[in-house]
Amino acid sequence: MSLFITFEGIDGSGKSTQIQMLYEYLQARGYPVIKVREPGGTTISDWIRRILLDLRHTEMATTTETLLFSAARAQLVIETIRPYLFDHGGIVLCDRYADSTYAYQGYGLGRDLAELRMVTAMATGGLQPDITIFLDLRAEEGLERKRVKQQPLRRASLTNSWEIEGPADAVPQGAATQTPEWNRLDARELAYHQRVEMGYRELIAESPERWHIFDARQSIDTLAQQIQIAVEPMIEHVRLLEPET
Ligand code: ADP
Ligand code: TYD
Repeated sequence: MSLFITFEGIDGSGKSTQIQMLYEYLQARGYPVIKVREPGGTTISDWIRRILLDLRHTEMATTTETLLFSAARAQLVIETIRPYLFDHGGIVLCDRYADSTYAYQGYGLGRDLAELRMVTAMATGGLQPDITIFLDLRAEEGLERKRVKQQPLRRASLTNSWEIEGPADAVPQGAATQTPEWNRLDARELAYHQRVEMGYRELIAESPERWHIFDARQSIDTLAQQIQIAVEPMIEHVRLLEPET
């Protein structure tokens, strides 16, 4: 049996940190597990990510933005997530998924939720997470964490550990002015991030059974332990990797 776990929360809430820790924990216990992030996770999706996050793309229409997130998701689901779940029977950890589109493009930008659900159904073929880990943090605190983290980067740093080895020498000119930690979407005003935060709360209220909510102000280790406990009942149905001979 496979397991699809998504991580959600506002920017800077600690998703990447926790997904890495859960990934290492599951791997050490012998489970077949991969981690991917949105937008990204495949060569094509990583290209789309660059377009979406580029600080220079101030003219991007919200329709374009929505469809690009969905296109990146479609490729990731078809190329990576579905095969790993259904051919391999493994565990997929995904840093953001469709709920991010509802929270950001829906509540954040005011796009129609019913329309977003239709586009998402097409992009994912109806694939839904078995469980969603929500790292609960106020928008102000998340943005502050990201601001502290951001540093001027060399051009090479545009490709970080999350990214698939891609056509790096074809990075658009000028892209070096952007850091992976502070992007076009982070740069939106605080009110936008607050609408996103409120949107998450509405999404959770709609289907509380799927969400596991954690206070993201706790220490990194405490959170990691709580998340391990939350996934424990689900992972016992996943077959361990055969030991190598
Ligand atoms: P996200 O992936 O949600 O944007 P990150 O995992 O990249 O968040 O974390 C954003 C910043 O906050 C990083 O500098 C990280 O080290 C820090 N951070 C992560 N978890 C915590 C925590 N529980 N308490 C304090 N700082 C944290
Ligand atoms: P990233 O730096 O990966 O996010 P995080 O701050 O969580 O580490 O940037 C991804 C940005 O894209 C983030 O601001 C959320 C946004 N986003 C959407 O607006 N819609 C979506 O469907 C997805 C997947 C992400």
